[in-house]
Amino acid sequence: MMSKVFIITGTRKGIGRELANYYLDKGYVVVGCSRGESSIEHKNYRHYSLDVSDESKIIEMIIMTKKEFGKIDILLNNAGIASMNHIITTPYKTAQNIFSTNFFGTFLFLREVAKVMVKQRWGRIVNFTTVATPLRLEGEAMYAASKAAIENLTQITARELADFGITVNALGPTPVPTDLIKNVPKEKMDALLNRQAIKRFGEFKDIVNVIDFFIDERSDFITGQIIYLGGVNG
Ligand SMILES: NC(=O)c1ccc[n+]([C@@H]2O[C@H](COP(=O)([O-])OP(=O)(O)OC[C@H]3O[C@@H](n4cnc5c(N)ncnc54)[C@H](OP(=O)(O)O)[C@@H]3O)[C@@H](O)[C@H]2O)c1
Repeated sequence: MMSKVFIITGTRKGIGRELANYYLDKGYVVVGCSRGESSIEHKNYRHYSLDVSDESKIIEMIIMTKKEFGKIDILLNNAGIASMNHIITTPYKTAQNIFSTNFFGTFLFLREVAKVMVKQRWGRIVNFTTVATPLRLEGEAMYAASKAAIENLTQITARELADFGITVNALGPTPVPTDLIKNVPKEKMDALLNRQAIKRFGEFKDIVNVIDFFIDERSDFITGQIIYLGGVNG
């Protein structure tokens, strides 16, 4: 049987890079992207330097992937940006950038990959949200709102794609030490961790545990679900 083909967005660093390496180590094919150059050297890895809000580049990436590998099994919509700001001091440009990357990027990949998956009558899509959304986290209005939009997109597309053997779910990590959160002040971070049932940072193993569950062959009856880490409730 041919190896599973993954599309993972935002693979230059952080969680996306770890995910790419984890699935490459398992012998799968990974096609990744980020604005910057590739940081992964592997015979089963392909990299596209693009912005996830650039529609024509994404269409081309998906066409090229389908051409080379003949199928796309799994999409992990990981690319994302955050910016802490009180609403009064949030520039319009910042709000637009957050929505372009997080929401429109997720939308474009979901749409283009789903076209391929519909024909295959099989697929697994995992989107990325955050505990900041259910916690209604102060200072993260634009970031949390962009992820709230992703949650709704997940739930509705799960219904639209259900008849085609495609599941669409979302994972909401707690803070995980990456560049994304390096500028959050310590007292803000401690206050956030204290609102979780289990008061610690998330780790890569926590993330991959949920993703492995969502993409499992046996998870064909699991769709439209949002799983938060750390015991945060939706
Ligand atoms: N870390 C946390 O605490 C945490 C908590 C909850 C949820 N999450 C979610 O987890 C996901 C990954 O976060 P992370 O912590 O790994 O962040 P990160 O370390 O900042 O990495 C973000 C990745 O996305 C890429 N990227 C950013 N904007 C992009 C764009 N417009 N087009 C293409 N690629 C782009 C970056 O590469 P380039 O710079 O080369 O583009 C990088 O590879 C995000 O969706 C985030 O919201 C993270």
